[in-house]
Amino acid sequence: GQNPNEILDRKNAEAMLGGGQNRIDAQHKRGKLTARERIELLLDEGSFEEIGRFVMHRTKDFGLDKQHYLGDSVVTGYGTVSGRLIYVFSQDFTVFGGSLSEAHAEKVCKLMDLAMKNGAPIIGLNDSGGARIQEGVVSLAGYADIFYRNTRASGVIPQLSAIMGPCAGGAVYSPAITDFIMMVENTSYMFVTGPNVVKTVTHEEVTSEELGGASAHSTKSGVAHFSCANEVQCIEDLKKLLSYIPQNCEEIAPVYPYEAKDDELRPALNTIVPDGANKPYDMREVIEATIDEDSFLEVHKNYAENILVGFGRIGGRSIGIVGNQPSNLAGCLNIDASKKAARFVRFCDAFNIPLLVLVDVPGFLPGTDQEWNGVINDGAKLLYAFSEATVPRITVITRKAYGGAYDVMNSKHIGADMNFAYPNAEIAVMGAKGAAEIIFKNEIKASENPAEKLKEKEDEYNEKFANPYRAAHRGYIDEVILPEQTRQKLLRAFKMLENKVDSLPRKKHGNLPL
Ligand code: COA
Repeated sequence: GQNPNEILDRKNAEAMLGGGQNRIDAQHKRGKLTARERIELLLDEGSFEEIGRFVMHRTKDFGLDKQHYLGDSVVTGYGTVSGRLIYVFSQDFTVFGGSLSEAHAEKVCKLMDLAMKNGAPIIGLNDSGGARIQEGVVSLAGYADIFYRNTRASGVIPQLSAIMGPCAGGAVYSPAITDFIMMVENTSYMFVTGPNVVKTVTHEEVTSEELGGASAHSTKSGVAHFSCANEVQCIEDLKKLLSYIPQNCEEIAPVYPYEAKDDELRPALNTIVPDGANKPYDMREVIEATIDEDSFLEVHKNYAENILVGFGRIGGRSIGIVGNQPSNLAGCLNIDASKKAARFVRFCDAFNIPLLVLVDVPGFLPGTDQEWNGVINDGAKLLYAFSEATVPRITVITRKAYGGAYDVMNSKHIGADMNFAYPNAEIAVMGAKGAAEIIFKNEIKASENPAEKLKEKEDEYNEKFANPYRAAHRGYIDEVILPEQTRQKLLRAFKMLENKVDSLPRKKHGNLPL
């Protein structure tokens, strides 16, 4: 008989080739890496342990009984990233186009179950032609088994998805339930129905890239949180993202070494917010001047740009940052911005990442488009997300905080722990002109010079309300601080809140206005 060790060697070598050298070459020609190469790039060198290398599909229809590949169309296992345990599945496009067979789904589910029991993140590297067409409903069942586990795992362990090839039809719903989606520019796409079906039904002519490429999903739909120039960049981004998040909902994110300095004043902050109330500026400058150097990782960078969200570190500790962006739509809240920020806030809260909220908001964006598309519901999502969050929460009002948007943006009233404002902050129901026009309507009408009267009343309103002191007198603002003190105050306040314990009333689950 044959030497058993030789049999094993031969099988191992066969599994390494997936769908064979020709298909590997074709994958490379498309500018794509193979499933195994991607895992190599992601995990610490030599740390990968494979699970289920010899699993095969069991289909006999359509001649598949004569076509077997060891491992079938997905590589699964565990390893470490920066020394931390990570589970990873990587779909192998060289085997039946990475399509999802019953066996493929079983491998993924086995991994998800391990990740849940052992409390570590799971990363999916997606590159698949969808359901294994030869298997029919068995393949659909496999998808649903995965969706079900994605949902159960949501908020328990971080789930990250990288889209590195096709991801279409039902397949999109697994990444959609995970916490973050990365897409690779020009080689990946996601859609529920592809260009051919779209053409038949709506007569629109679009390419896969236009319909569901990284650009479409990172700017138009918001489905993708990160758009990556290539696969190597995508994997780097995954690793960077992991550095800000904990292993599971019971732990905190890794703490980076940080030397406390005597003087944490940042004079550069004094000149970023302009004097004029309507002049634009980039809130990113405030963020970068406040947090630890080079620690900002922006999420959803090119989607709903009127709000900024992302991760950073202060004193070596991970925080989630939400900031209005005065350089886009004057920083107004709208449907997309509310949804973007709400989802981010809920992720941070689920995984014990404290929140910093930078406020410069003139209100909600007016218009039929917003109202008819349900800005009431979506604005409420953000309000709900903040109100529900039990992590340490700190707000800094850098300039405007008007109307309902003041309440929504992590105000004291909805549970923020510390609320700061700069001396030039304006905290009021509405802008002075609008306010004067309403409350002094008759007086202005009766006046000989209505324009002058309006101006006079506007100034009066401004003087009374366009400042942080009305709010500070009530304790809605804990301290009015100079911009240069922001970092120092945040370092101390986040440290003070480090052991915060808070919980929600006993319930099955809330009813977030979806
Ligand atoms: N089931 C079984 N095999 C599949 C498959 C699927 N869903 N999708 C792709 N494959 C196979 C192809 O038959 C081909 O096999 P081969 O290497 O033996 O020739 C291989 O995977 C590569 O596919 P190919 O079509 O040559 O690659 P492509 O890059 O030109 O196109 C897709 C990729 C995904 C656009 C195309 O394969 C496709 O449309 N697949 C079907 C998608 C679908 O409708 N899925 C079911 C519903 S979710």
